[in-house]
Order: sequence, then C-alpha cells, then structure tokens
Amino acid sequence: MSMSLKVMSFVGLCLFTTIMPVAADELPAPADLPVVKELPDPLVCMDGTRVTTKEAWESKRRPELKTLFQHYMYGYFPAAPDAIKATVVAEDRNYLGGKATKKLVNIAYGPEGCPTIDLLLVIPNKRPAAGAPCFVGLNFNGNHTTTDDPTIPLAKGWMRPGKGVKDNKATVEGRGTSKGRWEFENAIDQGFAVVTFYYGDVVPDNKDRNAGAFPFYRPGGGKEHGPHEWSAIGAWAWGIHRAVDYLTSDKEIDAKHIFAIGHSRNGKAALLSAAFDDRIAGVVANMAGCGGSGPSRNHNPKAETVKRINTVFPHWFCDAFKEFNDSVEKLPFDQHCLVSIVAPRPVLFTAAEQDQWANPDGQHQVLIAANPVYKLYGLVGIDPDEKVEFNKLLGTTLHYHYDPGKHAVTKEHWDVYIRFAKAHMTAAK
Ligand code: GCU
Repeated sequence: MSMSLKVMSFVGLCLFTTIMPVAADELPAPADLPVVKELPDPLVCMDGTRVTTKEAWESKRRPELKTLFQHYMYGYFPAAPDAIKATVVAEDRNYLGGKATKKLVNIAYGPEGCPTIDLLLVIPNKRPAAGAPCFVGLNFNGNHTTTDDPTIPLAKGWMRPGKGVKDNKATVEGRGTSKGRWEFENAIDQGFAVVTFYYGDVVPDNKDRNAGAFPFYRPGGGKEHGPHEWSAIGAWAWGIHRAVDYLTSDKEIDAKHIFAIGHSRNGKAALLSAAFDDRIAGVVANMAGCGGSGPSRNHNPKAETVKRINTVFPHWFCDAFKEFNDSVEKLPFDQHCLVSIVAPRPVLFTAAEQDQWANPDGQHQVLIAANPVYKLYGLVGIDPDEKVEFNKLLGTTLHYHYDPGKHAVTKEHWDVYIRFAKAHMTAAK
C-alpha cells in the first residue's frame, strides 16, 4: 500500500538556495536600527513610506516584512523541495468505531540521510466531496503520545527528557501521555480531520545546530551556522509546509481548509508557518507567547522576555535575534507584523489567566495592532473596545480567547478551535 506522489529530484543548487531578498545585504545591523518604543506601524515601510492599498501591501510591505522576520528573527527558510515523496505506510478505514480513517504517511522531503516526517492523520469518513477540513499541528512527544492506539509507531528522533523517554529516545511508556491535547474523536464528530507529527521529525529541540535537517540545508555546507540562518522554530514551521505539500494532494482533505494549530513553542511555529504559506487557511496559536503571539516589546513583568527566551532556547531563533536582547525597541517589527502577513486569513490566539508567562494581554494587543492590515482587505480584525471576558471568543477575523486556566490544551480549547474554523469555512477560501 505504497503511494509515490512525485519523484524526488534534488538536483543542482536548488537545495541550497535560500529565499534571500535582494536587499538583505543592505539591511542595517541591529545596533543601527532606530528605536521605536511601541508596536511599529505595520503599514510603514523601511524607507518611511506608508502603504495605503492592498496592492501596495502585497507587492511591497508584505514581502519586506517577510524578509525582515527572516533576517532578524527566525532565519532564512530554505527553498521548498522540488517534490516530496509521500508513502502511506498504514491505513485503517474502520477507525474510531467506523467513524474515521486513520492513515500513517511518511514524508521524505530531503536528500538521503535527511530525517523524514511521520504524519498521523485521522479523517472523518462522513465528509464532503471536497474532502474534510483539517487541523494540522506539531506534537511535542511523538504521535504515539497523542492516543492510546498501540499500532502507532514510537517517534524515532531525539527527544527531550520526560515521561516515556529514556536516553533521549521514545519508549512505550510514553504511549497516550499527551492524549488530552489531541481531541481526535471530538474533531471527527464535528467534521474535522486532525493531522499531527512530532516536531523533532524535522530538527531536534536542542542546541545542536548540526542535527536533524539543519546540515542538509546549510548554504555552502560546513558546520558553522550563519547569523541569519534557519532556526529551530523556522525549521518546525517549514516542516508544517511539507505536511501541507502532502495534505493538498490527499483527496480526503479539503485543500482549501487546512488550519494550522499549535501550543506554546509549537504555536510559535504554527503562526510562522501560516505567515509563510498561503495554502494555510487560518491559524490557531494556543498560548504561544514570546517569539510567537506575544509582543517582543513586553510590558508585562511576569511575561517571558526576548533576552530570556534567547538565553534558554538559543536554537529557536537565528543568532541575529540575540542582538536585540537588551534593545527590543530596535526591532523593525513586532509580532503584530507576523499576524499581518497572515492577512486576510483568520487568526486565533488562545490565552489563559494563569499563563502570564505567555503574556495574555500582550497577545490581545498584538491582534489589535494588526487591524490596519485587515482593514486594507475590507475586513474587521478585532474590535479594540470589545471587552475581554473569560471563555468568550472575541473578534471578527482576528480572534482572542481568554480563560481562567493554566498553560494547557483542553477539550474546551478544541471546541473553540472548531468554532473558529467553522466561522471561517467560506471566508477562508
Ligand atoms: C517555555 C518557554 C516558552 C514556550 C514554552 C513551551 O516555557 O519559555 O516560550 O512557549 O516553554 O513551549 O512549552
């Protein structure tokens, strides 16, 4: 039962080609950037001009912001591979009592020796002719932790220490340990497919920048990574793009309704993936916080700072980002600009009162500050005067949800994701 989608052809230089903007060499060093105290105006370009139309946004400011985010924060993405090779390694059409189909699909995206992605898909059997809308998101500990199903293979890659992990390898003890975060049956019952893979299938979540897919995509080869080179969060986001490569070819999935989701560090990657891939219909960043949905210009003393995140997780962002540790006000963007790149597609941030580390109020402000870009598309983002209340889904295209709980993913959160996605099923096209 093997399906070769396309023949891989990694020829010539294309593997090492990065999306280098023409002007990258001319971008100022971080120290030479001007101080901007509050969230910068997303519509004002580096040359000081203001965009006032959707066309100017798309042809000038949006690509400029993509360059800036890569140059100063996440590192430059490598070009997408010419083709992926997807192999369906297992399939059960009678899953969840016959309500669903489970598929395990291996995605080879790189040259010989490069890690591969093991995608777990649970798809409703009752679905429209166009296929099922779906959520795609990274998991922290392997597909085998998202369900008790004993047939799901253990994740292969390096794993952070924790329950069900021995010598940085997954063990059977991990089976089902994250199942509370993955509401397969609930989503199926509401018509949605859920697709996930282990974030370490792309690069491991450790400081080794020569592990996982990193060395296969290093411009010019070698062991040293450059200051603007691909980071772990960038790599995880790029991995989601490879999953989308597959999903858009699977007839059982509605290619027009692929929503990226992610919690915490994987929420940062989800938001980045949506900003850099227009095939993604919308995005949910659950308590993603600093480096994702939370502002770098942070006014919450309990929230994570750029300096702290860069110190504890130096591999998450490119080295250039560290130069902003003590001068976040020199960043020529803030996270509302990343949200703005997603426009006109919908965005949902879910935050919690007991998760001040992820800066709930800051996340709300980030959404509000992206409003002007949605307005260019004739869309209402989020009403700044709409009162924040527990368990209320705020916003029209940019959504905020706040609950009294902790840093977590619960069934209630999934119900909110599904409400959000349903609300944008046609608008998302
Ligand atoms: C740490 C980190 C956060 C991150 C979180 C997670 O708390 O400081 O930035 O979001 O881990 O991914 O669980």
